[in-house]
Amino acid sequence: MSPLLEVEDLHVEIPLPHATLHAVRGVSLTADAGEAVGLVGESGSGKSLTLRALLGLLPQPARVTSGRIVLDGVDVTALPERERRRRLTSAMGMVFQDSLTALNPVMRVGEQIAETPRRKLGMSGAKSKARAIELMDRVGIPEPERRYRAYPHELSGGMRQRICIAIALSGQPRLILADEPTTALDVTIQAQVLSVIESLRVEEGVGLILVSHDLAVVSETCRRIYVMYAGRVVENGPILDVLGAPRHPYSFALLRSVPDPDVPVHRLLTIPGQPPDLMDEVAGCSFADRCRFVSDACYEQTPPLVQLTPDRATACLRYEEAERWSDMVAEAPVQEEVR
Ligand SMILES: Nc1ncnc2c1ncn2[C@@H]1O[C@H](COP(=O)(O)OP(=O)(O)OP(=O)(O)O)[C@@H](O)[C@H]1O
Ligand code: SF4
Ligand SMILES: [Mg+2]
Repeated sequence: MSPLLEVEDLHVEIPLPHATLHAVRGVSLTADAGEAVGLVGESGSGKSLTLRALLGLLPQPARVTSGRIVLDGVDVTALPERERRRRLTSAMGMVFQDSLTALNPVMRVGEQIAETPRRKLGMSGAKSKARAIELMDRVGIPEPERRYRAYPHELSGGMRQRICIAIALSGQPRLILADEPTTALDVTIQAQVLSVIESLRVEEGVGLILVSHDLAVVSETCRRIYVMYAGRVVENGPILDVLGAPRHPYSFALLRSVPDPDVPVHRLLTIPGQPPDLMDEVAGCSFADRCRFVSDACYEQTPPLVQLTPDRATACLRYEEAERWSDMVAEAPVQEEVR
């Protein structure tokens, strides 16, 4: 059976006045129905643009320059734009990274939820209102009938984020793209919002692609993980395998503190050095300047994404030495910070 969503070799470019930024450089990923998949990587690695490109919601002037998006086995990139959009937006709903500010401040929250069922699913005013109230209840908004008439500023941050999730769900999607859905929230509200998303997945089979800086959140929520660096997926696989035995030096450095349950580190580590300039077509491995295990060959060829097992891949020329990386680091430690 084909996955619900298959993304193949997606490229997103941003033409700027004096150069072109190659922000997403050949990302491939899959998500099965009802599956939770995590997407991690440091700031600027292309996570948000990847998700937005899937829905045709790139900020100006970014554009998809190549790649295939296959939904339910159908290559939607080959369809006329209107049909492509219709299929993608009815299959997927998105919780935006800046969604708390994305709510319309002068429109009642209930009406913002009811808009999609009315417009996309052709529901009457009364039915779409009932649907919005049901969704508000579903995401844990107390007294949804009364709160239907509230404006965003009248609700707490946690409630506004639940409204955003209800909006993402309002078109009855089979996959939610959630871009840092809990970052702005305190820990208790984070847990509540995540449990709403998780119960939708378990009870209604709604799949999830989750972008988060919080590895505890990703490892609790997701079965598989994609690690992005400088616009590319550099490693992917079952989350326990990737966290427990990374096969790419970037994920090794980023995730290294996580598998030890006695170490209360939940955030990604900050790695010394800067990512490459996305304006340039980097010769060789784009991580080479920051990699502790770099060799001459790494500057000469771009590492291909090598499939290690059917569900595990890495883009490192030296992955076969991965079992020695911990010893090598212990011999020559470098100060790392948690962000
Ligand atoms: N509208 C835009 N104009 C110019 N550059 C942009 C625009 N949007 C994104 N970029 C650049 O594209 C690259 C990828 O951005 P993206 O937002 O996908 O990163 P991200 O991985 O989501 O980062 P973060 O973790 O900070 O949210 C970054 O270098 C970013 O500065
Ligand atoms: S290819 Fe070389 S530079 Fe790139 S991650 Fe692997 S060891 Fe490091
Ligand atoms: Mg982002």
